[in-house]
Amino acid sequence: MACFEPEQPLALPAWSPEVAPEPYRIKAIEPLVLTTRARREAALQEAGWNTFLLRSQDVYIDFLTDSGTSAMSSTQWAEMLRAAETLTYSEAYDRFVETIRGLYGFPYVLPTHQGRAAEHVLSQVMIRPGQYVANNMYFTTTREHQERAGGIFVDVIIDEAHDPAAKHPFKGNMDPEKLRDLIRREGPEQVAYVCLELNVNMAGGQPVSLENVRTIAEICRSHGIPLIFDATRAAENAYFIKMREPDMQARSIPDIFRELMSYADGVTVSAKKDLLVNIGGFLAVRDAALYRRLEQFALRFEGHPADGGLARRDLVAMAQGAREMLDEDYLRSRIEQVAYLAARLRDGGVPIVEPPGGHAVFIDARRFLPHLSQDQFPAQRLAGEIYLASGVRTMERGIVSAGRDPKTGRHKYPRLELVRLTIPRRVYTQGHLDLAAEGILEVFARRERIGGLRMVFEPPTLRFFTARFEPTV
Ligand code: F0G
Repeated sequence: MACFEPEQPLALPAWSPEVAPEPYRIKAIEPLVLTTRARREAALQEAGWNTFLLRSQDVYIDFLTDSGTSAMSSTQWAEMLRAAETLTYSEAYDRFVETIRGLYGFPYVLPTHQGRAAEHVLSQVMIRPGQYVANNMYFTTTREHQERAGGIFVDVIIDEAHDPAAKHPFKGNMDPEKLRDLIRREGPEQVAYVCLELNVNMAGGQPVSLENVRTIAEICRSHGIPLIFDATRAAENAYFIKMREPDMQARSIPDIFRELMSYADGVTVSAKKDLLVNIGGFLAVRDAALYRRLEQFALRFEGHPADGGLARRDLVAMAQGAREMLDEDYLRSRIEQVAYLAARLRDGGVPIVEPPGGHAVFIDARRFLPHLSQDQFPAQRLAGEIYLASGVRTMERGIVSAGRDPKTGRHKYPRLELVRLTIPRRVYTQGHLDLAAEGILEVFARRERIGGLRMVFEPPTLRFFTARFEPTV
């Protein structure tokens, strides 16, 4: 088993052509429609070159998101179907809360309808306008809620995270010096909390090391600053810790996961990822007084604190998913599926974010289309071209996603200009991955002839969801 020194260049284990075999068999299927190139051209034009706006029936392989797209297990379905008949609301709630308490170790658990709802509640309750929130890079909805609450977002991730080619094994780590500088400069009382995302989505699904978590927790504790995890993909992060961090190989995933959680004062979770469900999320904290404030706020926006606006069946599906997400065979097959797709692209010369992360392969659009400037939306264009080539839907994660600076109104120009191929959990086979890789290699072969885009409609917030574009050539 490979083991890496955190500061050493990452020597990934030799890639084997076999994906770790899936530890399950497929019991229910959803038919897919193969589209023609002509149909895809019409569909992309109708969608304003925004893959979010494509209709699902025009998509063959959907790598738009790993959120709410997992295949549930037969046990999850059985729990759901039984829930309405056999459980009262409070029994479903108790089952959910007991499971989350047991696995995550927080005494107070508040269900919400999805992750951003948990972020909304937390940000409104914990941020005083004008306070800073330190993050490792950003997630779109997380930052949006911090800023809506009057917070000042600060990115304190390590520099390597902004370099797609840097082969650091834990590119999600926070830079302790950047965090200390912020605290020194602004004073600890001006930092509302530190928000540490486990497996940093926008950096490429990159993990945080346990050593880094311990260091950041110590800094927070010594200054009395709460440490909150965005634990949306923390199970996948725990797997990387086991694989890559020294002395972790003998430990079980639940054990590593539990230690990770022990350093946080609270978590927000989108259950639509790790927990293998189609809807749901939660907040969990240690402090009773904080919980009561969160609960009061959630009542107005989410629903009763015992359900967060969810149905009984959603609560029990989350509980069962939480039990399944820490299974090591499942995590290995999931993360090696991502590594397999990355290897196929890398072998064909396609520039990708290295090392590949937990939930997605990210293509580096700057190096794929070096003749385009960032104002020409290279990643947005590339996502459109990939769809035209093979019916594979991907997502822009670059200048469009980064949005505008709320003060100056100018584009934010992030260093990373990426296309995300997000792999739903337990859904696609190696055949699908091969087809996606071949389509992308076909686009790569004609990359020099690909032009940019012009934005013709821009909404005021979270523009990547609904903005519309036209090709310039
Ligand atoms: N935090 C992270 C790290 C996420 O990736 C997401 C969602 C959220 C919070 C918000 O959760 O969708 O349940 O409200 N990410 C999805 C994605 C949308 O495709 O990456 P949500």
